[in-house]
Amino acid sequence: MMEASHFYEPRLGHGLPHDPFNAIVGPRPIGWISTRSAEGLLNVAPYSFFTAFNYTPPIVGFSSIGYKDSVRNIEASGEFVWNLVTRPLAEAMNQTSAAVAPEVSEFELA
Ligand SMILES: Cc1cc2nc3c(=O)[nH]c(=O)nc-3n(C[C@H](O)[C@H](O)[C@H](O)COP(=O)(O)O)c2cc1C
Repeated sequence: MMEASHFYEPRLGHGLPHDPFNAIVGPRPIGWISTRSAEGLLNVAPYSFFTAFNYTPPIVGFSSIGYKDSVRNIEASGEFVWNLVTRPLAEAMNQTSAAVAPEVSEFELA
């Protein structure tokens, strides 16, 4: 029988076939974070660790697992656009999660 609860210390591992953390809060809104590199190249990528955090002052954000292009671009430009993915955009959004050469515009690709 399935246990009704599961306890684990992240540093010791969860002992399950898949990491449960990704499914604990679901469904989650998907952010489509668009940025511009120092060279002016455009980038867009999905981030599910993403939400509005505060009302006054208004704060939106996302979290990157590691130092990805979006983060590098934001450091260089000081800006990002926080777009909310809706169902009709889901397939296009998925296409922008794969790594592509930086000179390829993910906007055109998707
Ligand atoms: C639905 C979905 C949600 C994702 N959420 C995250 C996330 O919250 N954090 C993260 O680091 N990567 C997330 N990814 C993976 C990134 O989109 C992927 O690593 C992407 O290549 C990063 O692009 P960038 O290097 O242009 O920033 C997600 C991918 C998908 C398809």
